Amino acid sequence: MTELSPRIRFGGDYNPEQWPREVWPEDVRLMRAAGVTSVTVAVFAWAQLEPSPGRYEFGWLDDVLDLLHARGIRVILATGTASPPAWLAHLYPESLPVSFEGVRLAFGSRQQFSPSSSAYRKHALALVESIAARYGQHPAVEAWHVGNEYGNHVARSYDPESETAFRDWLRRRYGTVDELNRAWGTAFWSQTYGSFDEVAVPSAAPMIRSPTQVLDFDRFSSDALLSLYLAEAEILRAHTPHLPLTTNFMGFFKDVDYWAWAPHVDLVSDDLYPDPADARSHIVSAATRDLMRSLGGGRPWLLMEQATSAVNWRPPNVPLADGRHRLNSLQAVARGADGILHFQWRQSAAGAEKFHSAMLPHAGEGTRVHRGVRALGAELAELGDLVGAPVEASVAVCLDWDSWRAIEQDGTPASVDYMDSVLRFYEGFLRRCVAVDFIHPEADSARYDIVVAPVAHVLSDAALQALSQVPARWGTLVVTYLSGVLDADLHIRLGGYLGGHGPLRDALGVRVEEFAPAPQQDFSFSVTGSLSGEADFWQELLLVDDAEVVARFAGGFAIGSPAITRKSDGGEAWYVATRPSTDLMDRLVNLWLDGAEVPAGFDAPTAEAETVVRGRRRFVANHGSTAAEFSVDGRHVALPGHGAMWIDRT
Ligand code: GLA
Repeated sequence: MTELSPRIRFGGDYNPEQWPREVWPEDVRLMRAAGVTSVTVAVFAWAQLEPSPGRYEFGWLDDVLDLLHARGIRVILATGTASPPAWLAHLYPESLPVSFEGVRLAFGSRQQFSPSSSAYRKHALALVESIAARYGQHPAVEAWHVGNEYGNHVARSYDPESETAFRDWLRRRYGTVDELNRAWGTAFWSQTYGSFDEVAVPSAAPMIRSPTQVLDFDRFSSDALLSLYLAEAEILRAHTPHLPLTTNFMGFFKDVDYWAWAPHVDLVSDDLYPDPADARSHIVSAATRDLMRSLGGGRPWLLMEQATSAVNWRPPNVPLADGRHRLNSLQAVARGADGILHFQWRQSAAGAEKFHSAMLPHAGEGTRVHRGVRALGAELAELGDLVGAPVEASVAVCLDWDSWRAIEQDGTPASVDYMDSVLRFYEGFLRRCVAVDFIHPEADSARYDIVVAPVAHVLSDAALQALSQVPARWGTLVVTYLSGVLDADLHIRLGGYLGGHGPLRDALGVRVEEFAPAPQQDFSFSVTGSLSGEADFWQELLLVDDAEVVARFAGGFAIGSPAITRKSDGGEAWYVATRPSTDLMDRLVNLWLDGAEVPAGFDAPTAEAETVVRGRRRFVANHGSTAAEFSVDGRHVALPGHGAMWIDRT
């Protein structure tokens, strides 16, 4: 990756087009005072840059970039393609997206384009070409911000152009319609196709839609967005091979497969708005930040957007209490971010986001929020030693968009929240302060001592092979309920699940005969054996061929059946056929860490503390409501509650 700066970047989206020129010098003066190093400019400025087709007006942006450059503020320049102007919708109404129900979405908001619209693509790329030619060599520009939050509002469109593009995508994937029929299992319900032209986008239908058709449309739609990004990237790279490219991801975003996307960005960046009203939001935040680091293969990443206080899209929009903005920012730094940016610099006076907080609030600089911004800017300026520093993880948790999409389709054994299932296992390690990376189940996991595959519902042949290698190379493998049930076409792996006859089932030494979801999500039962505890939600009838039974179900439909098994052959291969309670999860995690000889992390002083080690620094966050006291290298630290964060400065 290209290192952009030896300082931790600090700043946010800067939208000068919303303000009269007289405000701009004041903006830049206040940015300097706040320690701002970088701003993202022109994210939504297409209408100002190209007021009518082919007529560009760059003068104002020249002045903005020159002004920023004169005061030493660097620019991550946006390509401006996220919100097409009114004339595009007017001249090309077919470029507007069509919803699942068949409604053509109107102009008047943003992101109102079909990902497969040729008119949108043509005009967007012409704009990018002009921007790249004009600003590629501008000394203020340090990186490109391509588009904005691809797929956030319109991840799929059911318009005629999308349908044609979907058919082309299917032709490339399957070659022949016979192969499509095989993959989609169209012998079922008389769904056989005679040609690709008969295939439609899977919009509203009478009953459960074809699972593989739906998954393929999800895959196609994610690819369509990526192809827009790649078309812009090609232009930018031709003009400016020296400038890194990024686009802002949105954490655990189901509609776009970030494993497929991440190799195409030079710098992974993310937008995250933890909900201050959710006492557990720091857990999802920690995982999200670990995902961003993992998507870049361990490289530092950029927090492209967060709020300084309230957002404007939650009911209600609770402000961030004192300390929470700092905590959110430093949690990102602790988990690998080399830059902390915000939406946005100056709070808007008009438009849909005028009640969204910003770095400079409506009430001006003498405010709680702005004082916090200045303090954070000063603090980040002291943490330059962290730039480029790694976070070392010896545990990997598998994350896979196919499994996520497939298990949440209609017609599955139960209503399963995939991310909730994954994060319960992640959280077990978080509580032990052990760093976790996310990996794709097909990835080479040789550098990890422990690999956990929660609800790995869809496993390709390559993934079955990769996971089964973990115990063979003396690692610890943990596979959970509902894993290895389907292949990449969503066909059942016959003969006892866990990938059917083959390497994973051999590695685990068990077979699954039947699923038994609990009648309610919170229906709990005991498991007993050499390990005992509580579990809920899920049971399976498990047949053991070659493994030790660690615990059996002591209640519920599967009473007496094995619930947790371990096969020790080289390393260890665990199968967990249920959803463990927090307490049981903690004891399992301890067994896995001990078995794999993974040292516990820098220990948390309380159950509600989060600790991370990055580079030579240790971070402790206190998410609890009472103070946490601990000693580090003989020093006594008293960390207040409610989101205080301590950083080791030795
Ligand atoms: C996203 C968008 C921004 C803004 C914020 C509001 O991050 O990228 O333009 O709309 O949400 O929270």
